[in-house]
Amino acid sequence: MATLDKRSPNQQILPLTAKTNSNDHLEIGGCDVVELLQQYGSPLYILDEVSLRGACQQYRDAFKTHYQGESQVIYASKAWNCLAICAIVASEGLGIDVVSGGELFTAIKAGVNPELLYLHGNNKSESELEYAIACGCIIIIDNWLELKTASNLAESLGKCPRIMLRITPGIECHTHEYIQTGHLDSKFGFDPTEVESVFAFLSNQTALNCIGVHAHIGSQIFELQPHQDLGAVMIKWFKIAGKYGLNLTELNIGGGLGISYTESDDPPSITEWVKTVSNSVMAACEAEGLPLPKLISEPGRSLIGTACVTAYTIGGGKTVPQGRTYVTIDGGMSDNPRPITYQSQYLAMVANHMSAEADQVITIAGKHCESGDILIKDIKLPKTTAGDILVVPATGAYNYSMASNYNRIPKLAAVLVDSGEANLILKRETYEDLIRQDILPHKLR
Ligand SMILES: Cc1ncc(COP(=O)(O)O)c(C=O)c1O
Repeated sequence: MATLDKRSPNQQILPLTAKTNSNDHLEIGGCDVVELLQQYGSPLYILDEVSLRGACQQYRDAFKTHYQGESQVIYASKAWNCLAICAIVASEGLGIDVVSGGELFTAIKAGVNPELLYLHGNNKSESELEYAIACGCIIIIDNWLELKTASNLAESLGKCPRIMLRITPGIECHTHEYIQTGHLDSKFGFDPTEVESVFAFLSNQTALNCIGVHAHIGSQIFELQPHQDLGAVMIKWFKIAGKYGLNLTELNIGGGLGISYTESDDPPSITEWVKTVSNSVMAACEAEGLPLPKLISEPGRSLIGTACVTAYTIGGGKTVPQGRTYVTIDGGMSDNPRPITYQSQYLAMVANHMSAEADQVITIAGKHCESGDILIKDIKLPKTTAGDILVVPATGAYNYSMASNYNRIPKLAAVLVDSGEANLILKRETYEDLIRQDILPHKLR
C-alpha cells in the first residue's frame, strides 16, 4: 500500500496518487491510465485505493481527536456499493449504511459484520425488514408503518432488533433541491411534531430496542453552519426520549460533506467537518446536562467521490458553423447520470497528452440518444483526435451506483489501483448480460 497523504481527499479533484508520468500520460495508483484502457477496455472506472483508505482514516482519526465520546464512521454505500468497496471500508473499521435489501446482501457477502450495518430507506418492504432483523443489523425507522411492521415482525421472529428513528430536523442547506433531505417538507423521516408520540409508542412495547436517533440534512454541502446547528436539534430529541423512559445512546448525524468537482468548489476538509459536528454535539450535551452519545456519521460522497476517475476514448465530433465544437466520447449519461440529473459540472483532461496546451473550447457529448447527454459544456482542452483518452475526475460517488443500461449500453468495468497494480473489481457487462433477464414468450418465437 502506498504511503498516505495528509491532504483531505474531498478537497482534491484528482485522486491523491494522480500524477503525470514520463510518457506525459496520467498515472493513478502507479498505473498508466492509457495502458489501463488498453488492458481493460474503454470506458473504465479507475478507483485509487490510497484515496479511499486515506479518507476513511481521516474521518476515523478526526473523530478520535475531536470527539470525547465513542464514535463510529459508517460508509453511505449508496454512493458506490459493490463487494470490493464494502470490504475495503470495513477493513478500515467503518460500518456500512445500506438502503435496500440488495445493498444489505452485498455488504453481508463482502463479509461485513452485521452489527455494523445500518439499514435505511423510506419504504422498506416487509421482506427487507425481515432480512435485516434476521441479520442482526440496525434498522433506521423512517415512518409509522415501518415502526409497526418492524415491531410485529420482531415479535413473530422472537428477536429484539436495534432500531434508530429518522427524524426531519428542519434544517435547510444550500445544495441541489433533489439532494436536500433535512428540510421539513421532505419525504424522509418522522416530522419533528411526531417525536413525542413515537417515543410514547416505543415506551409501551418491548419488541424493538430503540438505541438512538438519526438525521441527514442533504448532500454536497459546503457550509458548516447546518451541521453546526444539527447537534442542538438532535440532542433535544434525546431529552424528550428520557421523559418516556427511553435511554438513547447513539446519535447519527448523517453525511453530506461536499467534494471538489471543479476548481470553483471549495468544501471544508474532512477534519474541519468532523470538528464542527463533534463540537456541536458536545456543546449541546453540556447545555442539556446529558452524557455524550456514541456519535455516528455516515459520509458517502466525501469518502469515495474523488478517489475515482472515468476514462473514455474520444470518437468523432462536429463543429456547428458559428457554434460549438462537440467532441464525442464512448460513454455518457448511462455511466454518469449526474450532469443530466443535477446539472453537475465536471473537469476533464486528455490523459495521453497531459502537458499539451489547452487551446480550444469544446463540449464533451455522450453517445446516448438524448440531446441532453452532454457531460461537460464549454471546457478548455488541448486539441483532440479520435482515439485520445479523456479522463473525467471525481466520478466515485453516485456514478456507478446510479448507472443505467439506457440504450442497452453495457455497464463499465472498474479497476482498483495501488502501487502499480490494478485489480478488476467490476467486470464489464456483456451483450449477453443485457438480455439475461429477458424472456421471449412462446407465442413470439
Ligand atoms: C440517509 C443518508 N445518509 C448518508 C448519505 C450520504 O450523503 P453524502 O454522500 O453526501 O455524504 C445520504 C445521501 O444522500 C443519505 O440519504
